[in-house]
Amino acid sequence: MTPSAPGSRIAGKLGLSDRVFAGPRSRKLLSVVEAGLARVDAALENELRVADSLADATSRYLYEAGGKRVRPMLALLTAQLGDGATDRVIDGATALEMTHLGSLYHDDVMDAADKRRGVPSAHAIWGNNVAILTGDLLFSRASQIMARHGEGAIRLQADTFERLVLGQMHETVGPKEGEDRVAFYLQVLSDKTGSLIAAAAQAGVIFSNGPEEYEAPLIAFGEKAGVAFQLLDDVIDLSADPDETGKVPGTDLRAGVPTMPYLVLGQRTDASSRDLRDRIDEGVARIADGADPAILDDALAELREHEATQATLDLAHAWSREAVDALEPLPDGAVREALTRFAQAVADRSS
Ligand code: IPE
Ligand code: IPE
Ligand code: MG
Ligand code: MG
Repeated sequence: MTPSAPGSRIAGKLGLSDRVFAGPRSRKLLSVVEAGLARVDAALENELRVADSLADATSRYLYEAGGKRVRPMLALLTAQLGDGATDRVIDGATALEMTHLGSLYHDDVMDAADKRRGVPSAHAIWGNNVAILTGDLLFSRASQIMARHGEGAIRLQADTFERLVLGQMHETVGPKEGEDRVAFYLQVLSDKTGSLIAAAAQAGVIFSNGPEEYEAPLIAFGEKAGVAFQLLDDVIDLSADPDETGKVPGTDLRAGVPTMPYLVLGQRTDASSRDLRDRIDEGVARIADGADPAILDDALAELREHEATQATLDLAHAWSREAVDALEPLPDGAVREALTRFAQAVADRSS
């Protein structure tokens, strides 16, 4: 296997082979999942071809830049509760990863994020319109793949995508006057991120003809692990290490996109927390008026060390524990063990 093969990529980015597949009874599972990921990558490579040469280049761009393949990995894991990595499982995992990929093109436009997966984001190269249209193209392709597998598959795709879009929409417009901001934001996280991770966990069992009674627990597991995953994403936004994250530190914060550490900070009433919050708000307003985003560097470093960030990590761990609890109805075995470790790993990651 070459260093850039999917399995190694995951091992490098999330430490998954060491963590999710720790222990002797997981070794076989690891090789099965890695073989499945190689098939998903080959399918992505193939399904991303577009006759138009510009569209071809823009569509392949972020795929070729990397990515952890978290969603296909989950689908491949839960498929082991049924007939394993059937062609339908590979197609389902490919379509969901493509949906994720398309959402990244749009998200970077919305968040004005200049970097993704260690490279300039698509809109930074081709402009917003081409980046948005490329995302749309990928959503169409994902639907085409799902449509090969009947109404249930296309419905899963459409329902999941609807939730993802509404999550992004609600994040954009924010809560209503008087609404609890943290509760609102947790719902945003469930919708924009939990939905797709839950769909991946569910798809593995559906497309492998696995037992129907495992679907509901796996959906609950995926939602909760997805919220934990996204809470860590918010902490990672404060990371000082762009080489590890492949993103510009503080992108969301500087653009005024609310993240959980910032919202928790807003709940704190002591003078120094209020002062930090005021400085962030003021910096965000000045950046919106054209000031250098670096004016928030110090405030960002302070928020990283603030108790609000630790409280966000604690919250991520609580969601991760709930994800593990949701696995109760699953049989004891290597798959449940790997899913348990997956939920723990996503709440304890740095990229
Ligand atoms: C990034 O997802 C967007 C979120 C929903 C947090 P990932 O962290 O899975 O991104 P890649 O696929 O590894 O780049
Ligand atoms: C991305 O959320 C969620 C979706 C793309 C649906 P974020 O905006 O928080 O993710 P990153 O930090 O840009 O990856
Ligand atoms: Mg973003
Ligand atoms: Mg975003």
